[in-house]
Amino acid sequence: MGETGNEGKNTLSIRDNRTGRDYEIDILEGNVIRAMDLRQIKVQDDDFGMMAYDPAFTNTASTRSTITYIDGGKGILRYRGYPIDQLAERSTHLEVSYLLLKGELPTQSQLDDFVQEVTFHTYVHENITGLFGAFRHDAHAMGMVISGVSALSTFYPGAKDVEDPDVRWQQIIRLIAKMPTLAAFAYRHHRGLPDVYPENELSYTANFLNMLFRIGTREYQPSPVLERALDILFILHADHEQNCSATAMRVIGSSKTDPYSALSGAMSALYGPLHGGANEAVLRMLERIGSVDNIPAFMEGVKRREERLMGFGHRVYKAYDPRASIIKRTADEVFEVTGRNPLLDIALELEKIALNEDFFIERNLYPNVDFYSGLIYQAMGFPVEMFPVLFAIPRTVGWLAQWQEMLDDPEQKIARPRQIFVGAEPRDFVQIGDRG
Ligand code: ACO
Repeated sequence: MGETGNEGKNTLSIRDNRTGRDYEIDILEGNVIRAMDLRQIKVQDDDFGMMAYDPAFTNTASTRSTITYIDGGKGILRYRGYPIDQLAERSTHLEVSYLLLKGELPTQSQLDDFVQEVTFHTYVHENITGLFGAFRHDAHAMGMVISGVSALSTFYPGAKDVEDPDVRWQQIIRLIAKMPTLAAFAYRHHRGLPDVYPENELSYTANFLNMLFRIGTREYQPSPVLERALDILFILHADHEQNCSATAMRVIGSSKTDPYSALSGAMSALYGPLHGGANEAVLRMLERIGSVDNIPAFMEGVKRREERLMGFGHRVYKAYDPRASIIKRTADEVFEVTGRNPLLDIALELEKIALNEDFFIERNLYPNVDFYSGLIYQAMGFPVEMFPVLFAIPRTVGWLAQWQEMLDDPEQKIARPRQIFVGAEPRDFVQIGDRG
């Protein structure tokens, strides 16, 4: 390509070979151009102008964000600049929640106030119990919790005032506080057990475990190891920048709907087996494989593309998912308390094969966050139907941080992608009796 005279400038020169016209477009930070700058490229003055075609947004930035940083090639994940391994080792889920929402780690008194606020909003309106009672005994917990979150919007009509930061903060506190309660009530419904109400003197995860597993009046003491393991899993799942469900949260929230309605939409996006439903799909896959002896046949099926190795691969991580290695360590600690999950042997063998065979190496298929989390949850006594819910509880914080950032961003408007219309040419309506 010849010299344009623009060499050395932080711009992009584009020549439209249809017209021979040259355009110079600014390059923003990080090799990015504004898609709207393409609009000036036209053949006729009354053309719409050029746009980018990007199904599944694989190469499109939808926002400038300060929340979570991922370098998928290097396996780096940071929340507000802090490496995920340091947060998992030294922080708590509520402290990390504050960090994600406010941008800075809290002082002791800020953290105390935040924990106090969350702790005292854990109760849900009694009518939610009536709502959950209407579900079949075998209703999937995720469907129930999605409905519960959506129903909360009707209990807090004031939440519609999304422009008011105080109103917003109140809903943020309510959602973080009530998610474990909704999740536990859904689980108790599934088990046919009466609800256990929140205990305000317990930690976020101990209270959750108590609401799930306490039977009768017997004092239930959650194991400190399991309480901490769950907290670590919550930290690891708290945010993951512009993934499918965060994008859903932003897109729905961009119409200025209330956060309960937006969050139930984000949860629905998470529910799918390619996203937060993957940990459930991993467990079902491991159970289906059944024994180490059956692995070679299963892997042949994966290579023939008849199967997908659930819990492997990621849109952005092309190296080991940093969360997966922390989870693997946590799994060892949990299994010391609960006993070893028998499916672990199958998981370890699958990982060994995947890390050594060309098919997986060529496609950068490493274990993701969901590969080992399900084994931990199962060992802790959770049924597989609870797995996506266990993902949604901590991710609530990330969704809310993303939602808040979107509302405060003056560049954001109601989300509205374009399309390339490839359907029928205009034609006249045909009466039903005259149709071929
Ligand atoms: N098993 C087998 N092959 C796979 C897998 C897998 N898990 N993942 C990707 N591949 C293959 C694809 O078939 C494709 O091969 P090809 O180039 O020969 O056609 C290649 O690897 C690239 O895959 P894509 O589907 O293009 O990757 P994409 O970025 O679109 O998908 C995804 C990422 C959805 C996570 C995918 O890897 C997957 O389905 N994984 C299993 C589900 C899963 O674990 N999801 C959880 C993700 S983490 C999270 O949401 C919390």
